[in-house]
Amino acid sequence: MTRQGEATDDARPELLVLGKLPDWDMEPLAEQFRILTLWDAPDPAALLARCGAVRAMAAQGHRGADAALMDALPALEIIANYGVGVDGIDLDAARQRGIRVTNTPDVLTGDVADLAIALALAVMREIPRGDAHVRGGGWAKGNLPLGRRFFGCKLGIVGLGRIGAAIAHRAAAFDCAIGYFNRSPQPASPYQAFATVEALAEWSDVLVVTVAGGAGTRALIDAPVLRALGPRSFLVNVSRGTTIDEAALLDALESRTIGGAALDVFLNEPHIDERFKALPNAVLFPHHGSATVETRRAMGQLLRDNLTAHFAGEPLLTPVV
Ligand code: 8YV
Repeated sequence: MTRQGEATDDARPELLVLGKLPDWDMEPLAEQFRILTLWDAPDPAALLARCGAVRAMAAQGHRGADAALMDALPALEIIANYGVGVDGIDLDAARQRGIRVTNTPDVLTGDVADLAIALALAVMREIPRGDAHVRGGGWAKGNLPLGRRFFGCKLGIVGLGRIGAAIAHRAAAFDCAIGYFNRSPQPASPYQAFATVEALAEWSDVLVVTVAGGAGTRALIDAPVLRALGPRSFLVNVSRGTTIDEAALLDALESRTIGGAALDVFLNEPHIDERFKALPNAVLFPHHGSATVETRRAMGQLLRDNLTAHFAGEPLLTPVV
């Protein structure tokens, strides 16, 4: 048996997979590529030292690729990301090295939008607390305090991209008034535009964050935005942990200067700040916005189709770089 990355006469190109993908992707990938797996390598540095022939990489949102990793892979031609967000990949470094980058847009939009609505309902109607109340036998002793109404509320969207627009579409069916903040104007949008995130927060009953992560949106939701949101309103984040000043959010939740938050994403996932776990006014979810069988199958298919197109010399389906 050859070790990962050892020379053989196998003509398949080498693919480095950073994080485990489902078997329904790994199996077809293994037919097309010689696969090297980084996530379970006993000595990742030693594996990377044998990656001189790697021509393709499968990355994931939180397992991105920086310039140092690209430098360790001198034959790398393409990074196919399993996710829409490419904030974990140094795109400038990829451009400089002539490495193509693809992602998986569109196929996950509906599921992430569904989850944003579900999280808003969960925190406003206190669904996790109700579940614990019934299971724990509390119901026979008394009932829960009243929740807050979601339908008809003012819903603010930070980042009216594909996912933001899909959330707006769903929220319209709940008779929500919809406002948004977007860096570039969206003149064709039927929704109310706000010039600043703070102004949007001040107006909103629920503020939903859908902007892409990365340096340009770091801590976009900061203490002044949370103050503007206020004690009767709620925050939902389905973007990246980096888009929120997390220390300011924890303070706001603990002091109840905002009503509550429902979060699918955090800094330092999966080792989130312990303070979150003690908060009764927060709903916590494990970065599962795209995590349905249907969407994950479609994401894997798109990742594989991009790799196939690249090695067939055909146009990439969803190029980023
Ligand atoms: C992850 C995501 O990629 O699409 C994104 O940007 O954050 C997710 O879909 C997914 O969790 C796989 O790592």
